[in-house]
Amino acid sequence: QERTFIMIKPDGVQRGLVGDIIQRFEKRGYKLVAMKFKQFDEAHLKQHYIDLADKPFYPKLCKFMSSGPVVPMVWEGKDVVKMGRAMLGATNPLQSNPGTIRGDFCIDLGRNICHGSDSVDSANKEIALWFDKTELASWSMCTGDNVYE
Ligand code: GTP
Ligand code: MG
Repeated sequence: QERTFIMIKPDGVQRGLVGDIIQRFEKRGYKLVAMKFKQFDEAHLKQHYIDLADKPFYPKLCKFMSSGPVVPMVWEGKDVVKMGRAMLGATNPLQSNPGTIRGDFCIDLGRNICHGSDSVDSANKEIALWFDKTELASWSMCTGDNVYE
């Protein structure tokens, strides 16, 4: 099964949206494989956002992301990388559709409360950066044949 890396950013934690965001993935039928609640240092965030290293907002972004606890998670299920991005909504909340996480809860690009991997390849890299193999739970969700045909 496909896996993706979803993270609730410090602004999402501060605004009390942790439960709501997790619930959307649970309700959809996706399976939680790993989760933490922890503040990470700037060096770790610089590694996470390494592909954006040449962008002018990179230092500010990494500083903000390390300013408080975040909720990094791994979710598993059919097409979860693409669907996770769709559930988050467009990067710029002003372009996110209502009904998406960003479209329901935020306004500013620099305070868009969540992160989602943009491809299976980045998902694998991000999962490896944020979690040790032993932190990925191997379990079956008792959904029977009610989520997948
Ligand atoms: P993520 O799921 O957070 O990775 O969003 P994304 O993949 O849709 O966007 P991208 O990876 O290009 O950018 C990562 C994050 O940097 C975004 O979620 C924004 O919070 C922030 N960001 C992106 N572009 C800008 C920008 O032009 N200005 C500022 N201030 N922040 C930006
Ligand atoms: Mg991205």
